Amino acid sequence: MTHSFHPSVFDDPTLNVIHLLNTLSSENPEAISLASGRPDDEYCDPSLIHKGLARFTQYLADTDQSLATTLCQYGKTGGIINPILARYLYKDEDISVENADNIVVCLGFQEAATLTLLSVFDDGGVLLVPDPVFCGITGIAKLLGIRVVPVAMDIFLDPTALRLLARAIESAGDKIKALYVIPDFSNPTSDCLGLAERKELLALAEELDFFILEDNAYSYFRYEGSKVPALKALESRRVFYLGSFAKSIFPGLRMGYVVAPEGEGVKPFSTQLCKAKSLVTVNTPALCQAVVAGLLIEHQYSLKALNQPRVLAYQQKRNTMIDCLEHEFPYSLGVEQRVTWNRPAGGFFINVQLPFAFGYLQMCECANQFKVIVFPTSLFSLMNGASTQVRLSFSNASLEQIERAVSRLRAYVDFKQGNRRG
Ligand SMILES: Cc1ncc(COP(=O)(O)O)c(C=O)c1O
Repeated sequence: MTHSFHPSVFDDPTLNVIHLLNTLSSENPEAISLASGRPDDEYCDPSLIHKGLARFTQYLADTDQSLATTLCQYGKTGGIINPILARYLYKDEDISVENADNIVVCLGFQEAATLTLLSVFDDGGVLLVPDPVFCGITGIAKLLGIRVVPVAMDIFLDPTALRLLARAIESAGDKIKALYVIPDFSNPTSDCLGLAERKELLALAEELDFFILEDNAYSYFRYEGSKVPALKALESRRVFYLGSFAKSIFPGLRMGYVVAPEGEGVKPFSTQLCKAKSLVTVNTPALCQAVVAGLLIEHQYSLKALNQPRVLAYQQKRNTMIDCLEHEFPYSLGVEQRVTWNRPAGGFFINVQLPFAFGYLQMCECANQFKVIVFPTSLFSLMNGASTQVRLSFSNASLEQIERAVSRLRAYVDFKQGNRRG
């Protein structure tokens, strides 16, 4: 008997993006990559592993818990460092966690998002996402069979327009169960929501009875202006706070967490999250939890000091990239040839608007012929949006690489413009 091949969710291009980002540069070793939002290799410091573990071992010695059992046995599903994370969240994010058992320690943001979607969407409903958006959320939502409705970024950032759209979705008979947002310096477009916009989102969630999935991956990386409170710090009842130490410690630890909604009469979601986790990964490796907890204790429950040199380095890279763009693409070029970009106040990415469409094929052409890898923003879109935009990541390139990469991008743009004119 032969098997016929039906289209499957695994054919969906969204599911390929993370893999693509992680393999592009090894396939083009001589090209400079501005594609992936990896943290700077320089701050992926293995000595943090030893430091964190040593401090956690010392901390355990003052308790009646055995090191062997804590590190080497199966562990509690929800995590073994939850009260330490609660102190950290209070100190760095002003988030008061009433009960540390409402934190579930996960393998990175990705597992936190998986468990949260599994427990919120147990009986259908719609997930609203801004568009373009990080494919980590849309990819897993699709894999779980959840209906995703993308909202163009200009509508997403306009509370009146978003309210109208959300009401229209509900009037058509669909139930919005959750909305995903990266309030501090989103991926891919580096948008940051102001306080009023955050409060409007919380009000809309209350009005239409849905949850907000708040992703904090870039919250430390602000280069100007003052911090805006997390939605979770403003109101806990409607918010699942999805945390990650990928950028603030390093991604190889695969450490993240979810803080479930809290408040009077709120459903105890942590029970469902733990049930799902017990079947997905059983528990987060105790070794990784120990490293994070030890580092938090060592740094008085704050990662601000550890991240200060990183913030300064990323800020310098952002400034250099903007200087290079201004140099290579002067505003004096005519409207038809004009290349423009945003000036993000934080995060890892600058989005450049080109005078022509830039998709997967153009990315390959640019990488193969001009030796610079830049990522089409459209690959983060579910609505064929951002077709002329390209995401440049400055986080893991040196200043000198940024200069050379932007100059190569300029050569590519000249080549395309020449072809268009010729
Ligand atoms: C928006 C966003 N959220 C979360 C993460 C971190 O995910 P993880 O903790 O699974 O590495 C990233 C990393 O690229 C990201 O861009």
